[in-house]
Amino acid sequence: MSREVRIAVLVSGGGTNLQALIDAQQAGIIKSGTLSLVISNNEGAYALTRAQNAGIKTVVINKKALGGQTAFEDRLLATLAAEQIDLIVLAGFMVILTKRVTDAYAERILNVHPSLIPSFCGEGFYGLRVHEAALAYGVKVTGATVHFVNEIPDGGRIILQRAVEIREGDTPEILQRRVMQEAEWQILPRATELVAKEIKEKKE
Ligand code: GAR
Repeated sequence: MSREVRIAVLVSGGGTNLQALIDAQQAGIIKSGTLSLVISNNEGAYALTRAQNAGIKTVVINKKALGGQTAFEDRLLATLAAEQIDLIVLAGFMVILTKRVTDAYAERILNVHPSLIPSFCGEGFYGLRVHEAALAYGVKVTGATVHFVNEIPDGGRIILQRAVEIREGDTPEILQRRVMQEAEWQILPRATELVAKEIKEKKE
């Protein structure tokens, strides 16, 4: 078995969190693992271009084209095994994974969520919707969470969180950007290194 910790990043959209991971690897913040593969469920995701620009292998697995969740997960598991992936990072990945996948990679899948869990999380809370809900509720502080992924959406053990203040006049778009900049792009690379380091130590 290789001693290298191989990391796969799963994406669906713009990929600014993927970019933060790429930048962190280049800056030596992520040093216990290697970004080895980027998988997208969406062939139009700009995240794929970011991966290609960084020289990272990309794979598209389209749930609709394959005929549904089971076939999607079959292909996903086969791809992860073929690429000898040790750690999976969900970075703006908009497909919910079932227990079959989360059990196969228990405490080996991380997700970044744009709120302070347990607020504004679970099924239906993704992307801009999370920030719309936080503003509608009137909370004064929000933030981001990186957690392990289990079969409960946004329900796994929390690894890191960072708070972000809400300001007068915030729109969902302005708030989303601030939460990314001040929280997500900081804590996702750090949590990835923390977990990659633990996996590396177990391999040695
Ligand atoms: C990020 O804000 C991420 O936290 C969120 O989607 C955005 C993806 O942006 N994820 C979720 O809502 C998951 N429940 P990105 O593609 O630029 O990284």
